[in-house]
Amino acid sequence: MSAKVLLVGGTQFIGHHIASALLSAGHRVALLHRGQHKNDLGPKAEEILCDWHDEKEMRERLKKRSFDAVVHCICFTESEAALSYKLFADRCAHFIYFSTAAVYLMNPEVHPPYREEDALREPAQSYLGSEKFSYGVNKRKTDLFFLLRHSRNGFPSTILRLPVVVGPRDYTGRLAAYLHRVRDGKPVLMPDGGHNAWGFLAAEDIGQAVLGVMKNKKTHGKVYNLAQREAISLRSLVLALGRLTGNHPCLVDIPSIHLLKTRLGIGFSPLSSSHHVLLDCSAAQRDFGFTPTPFLSWLKGFTDAFKKDGGRDLFRSTRSLEVEVAQEFLKERFPY
Ligand SMILES: NC(=O)c1ccc[n+]([C@@H]2O[C@H](COP(=O)([O-])OP(=O)(O)OC[C@H]3O[C@@H](n4cnc5c(N)ncnc54)[C@H](OP(=O)(O)O)[C@@H]3O)[C@@H](O)[C@H]2O)c1
Repeated sequence: MSAKVLLVGGTQFIGHHIASALLSAGHRVALLHRGQHKNDLGPKAEEILCDWHDEKEMRERLKKRSFDAVVHCICFTESEAALSYKLFADRCAHFIYFSTAAVYLMNPEVHPPYREEDALREPAQSYLGSEKFSYGVNKRKTDLFFLLRHSRNGFPSTILRLPVVVGPRDYTGRLAAYLHRVRDGKPVLMPDGGHNAWGFLAAEDIGQAVLGVMKNKKTHGKVYNLAQREAISLRSLVLALGRLTGNHPCLVDIPSIHLLKTRLGIGFSPLSSSHHVLLDCSAAQRDFGFTPTPFLSWLKGFTDAFKKDGGRDLFRSTRSLEVEVAQEFLKERFPY
């Protein structure tokens, strides 16, 4: 049966994929956003233009409306969680919100593959005041708010926890940065050999997961990790990009400690990490049959799309310095 779904956000990346999946499955979708990012789905999706932080305007716009599900793409802090509860608790039969794998990276005593309950462990004190970890700290508090509202007030919420999401419309440019480097034929720096592992998630799989949890009461009050099954190191990823595009990347392994002493630092390599970000997805598989797109399948789709329209490298500002640092490093290591 067709459901009425309100998507808070929905016109950029993840939200767009969810809206497409919902519409394809025959549901009615309203996109609530400010109008700064265009709705490319046309009149099939209703648009409600409003800043969702404006409580008065939101009440006015939503008036007496109610929804089978509210899918919130842009809730990041505990106070935003409290506002969401105020705005939507009496207005929806199911509330779905997106958390992040960053909630697992603040306690050195938890190890990958991460299970949903690992985020219940308190972050180590040193992470709490750090700007670098504020995204994960705030998302964790947001998750806890919704879990508590479910256990105390029966708020029918489901949390979908995402790792790095990849696919068409990805505005972060993280994966594309490596493809630009593989294709320009110049040295590709691999901080610490690029041995850190990722379990990515194809953006299209999020739409399928939303369809899987919607109207599934078993998922209320629960958190679900979503990710591909494969653990892929940054190094293997770059080599696979080379194979799929017919390039032979010249990888230069370089200690991050060395990079940090140069003007370059390590920010140029957005998928370098001191963690292995791998999620255990058995709960999603068990409760709603989550079946992720295999790594090589989505990567092929990504490289095919890139061949047609590579777009701009969002990390291009450091490219010439990367090459300079690689050449100097190789000269120091192999002077003859
Ligand atoms: N990308 C990843 O790898 C990744 C990983 C883990 C978790 N996540 C989670 O995914 C979610 C974000 O996904 P996304 O950015 O791709 O979602 P999206 O829904 O596709 O894009 C953001 C939407 O929010 C709207 N928006 C922004 N500020 C607004 C406001 N104040 N009021 C109303 N609408 C507003 C934007 O449109 P307007 O500008 O027109 O308002 C746009 O439609 C976050 O919860 C994030 O934590 C992402």
